[in-house]
Amino acid sequence: MQHETATAEWWRTAVVYQVYIRSFADGNGDGLGDIAGLRARLPYLHQLGIDAIWINPWYPSPQIDAGYDVSDYRAIEPAYGTTDEAELLIAEAHDLGIKVVLDIVPNHTSWEHPWFEAALAGDAQARARYLFRPGKGVDGELPPNDWESIFGGPAWTRSTAPDGTPGDWYLHLFAPAQPDLDWSNPEVVAEFEDVLRFWFDKGVDGFRIDVAHGLAKHPELPDAGPRTGRKDRNDHPGWDQDGVHEIYRGWRRVADEYADRVFVAEAWVESNERLARYLRPDELHTAFQFDFLQAPFVASVMKQTIDDARAAADAVGAPATWVLSNHDVVRHATRYARSQPEHAVSSIWEQSRWHEGAPDLALGLRRARAAALLTLGLPGTAYVYQGEELGLPEVEDLPAEVRQDPAIAQSGGAQIGRDGCRVPLPWSGETAPFGFSPEGAPEPWLPLPDSWAPYTAEAQEADPDSTLSLYRRALELRSKWLVGEGFEWVPSPEGTLAFARGDVQVWLNTSGAPVAVPGELLLGSDPAAEAGTLPSDAAAWVRV
Ligand code: NOJ
Repeated sequence: MQHETATAEWWRTAVVYQVYIRSFADGNGDGLGDIAGLRARLPYLHQLGIDAIWINPWYPSPQIDAGYDVSDYRAIEPAYGTTDEAELLIAEAHDLGIKVVLDIVPNHTSWEHPWFEAALAGDAQARARYLFRPGKGVDGELPPNDWESIFGGPAWTRSTAPDGTPGDWYLHLFAPAQPDLDWSNPEVVAEFEDVLRFWFDKGVDGFRIDVAHGLAKHPELPDAGPRTGRKDRNDHPGWDQDGVHEIYRGWRRVADEYADRVFVAEAWVESNERLARYLRPDELHTAFQFDFLQAPFVASVMKQTIDDARAAADAVGAPATWVLSNHDVVRHATRYARSQPEHAVSSIWEQSRWHEGAPDLALGLRRARAAALLTLGLPGTAYVYQGEELGLPEVEDLPAEVRQDPAIAQSGGAQIGRDGCRVPLPWSGETAPFGFSPEGAPEPWLPLPDSWAPYTAEAQEADPDSTLSLYRRALELRSKWLVGEGFEWVPSPEGTLAFARGDVQVWLNTSGAPVAVPGELLLGSDPAAEAGTLPSDAAAWVRV
């Protein structure tokens, strides 16, 4: 019985590689990553040893928010390829034993989606699928409530009525180009269940759900009142409303019509208890553990985070889902390259804290390698953001004129934007763009730093001490030694943490001084470490 569960529920132990498609590999030579580039690099992913890929939105889109503004949920962005190529990719990945998870964006559409265009043209049925409301003030010149957009400024934009006069306002929790859908409308519910089936029928293995905690709003759209910290936490009537769970019960029924399909929620909620509500047995299978991502490189904080996350997930029978980086946050090799706070950084949107002072990138990389062994050593699902296996740092000095994140302008420059973690991958060669695009292609959509020659996959291939080799070895050993969900803390000195998974122990040292570790070294993040000793800013897997 135990064994059956383990094989069927592949997602409980999987390592999923996040493909940020516009920056993964450019196959057609236009400076933008695409399906052709991804297909050509599938052998690389296979060799890395991952179980699945999650592909960021690849649908037609005006790309105002890098594809999170979808204008057609059943097609492929022409710059990325065709539906035929998507089907080939799914088949080829499956042939290599790699599952394919797509990104679904249900909270909002693009303003170029036919529904929203019809809504603006005055079609009442289409308008009822969005959240249009009259403004306040004498002439409706004030937004309907005080909600703020995550990207800055009001979460409302005033529309123009078909006769050219100022009309109602529409809600957008993100950019004005991303109007929020009204999920109390059964047509919206039916449409997305149909979109899920459309891709499940093509063999897709699951979906990452964008802003999974945003879909249901308080029916009266009341003011949120003054707030501190993240805008989407702290009991806000626009976020994490109870109504959202009925939506996911419906989605789960759809997934259960198929075999082995999985959902992973992007839900930035107030607590692990709130997160666990999304993971009840008739709702979603997994949800990113963002407290772990926001934890500093401090063993005691990481330990507490792991305990809290595991307890909450266990309570509903779900695995914890570990993640260190993604396309929205500063890469962890850079987050760890500065002095670390003693507590979690509560808001990823307050990125400035990670940009103070000059980074010590060598230290950041040491810690990133250690954090990788910690993460991949934990029971549950682990996500790897493309490029972290190469040890890539954040590109902090991108010139303002190349930055593209809509949050920069919308926040009036208060947000630095997320371009620095989205720079294309360096594959090979000595000069930029390091094999990202074929010879003769125009510049990539974001420039790669000239200093990235040592980070290319090619440069790291042959080096047994490279970060790429560390990830390959870790994934190989994980599938052999770190199976099952067993887990037990092991007593360890101050500034360290250690846990056992059967005969293997995972050790992390953030104390500032070397510590003694037991057993035989299976894998260490610090290639210079001697047997029996774990230097600071390092991790090891030992057999005891
Ligand atoms: C979360 C996505 O990860 C982010 O990139 C996007 O800007 C927002 N959701 C809005 O869709």
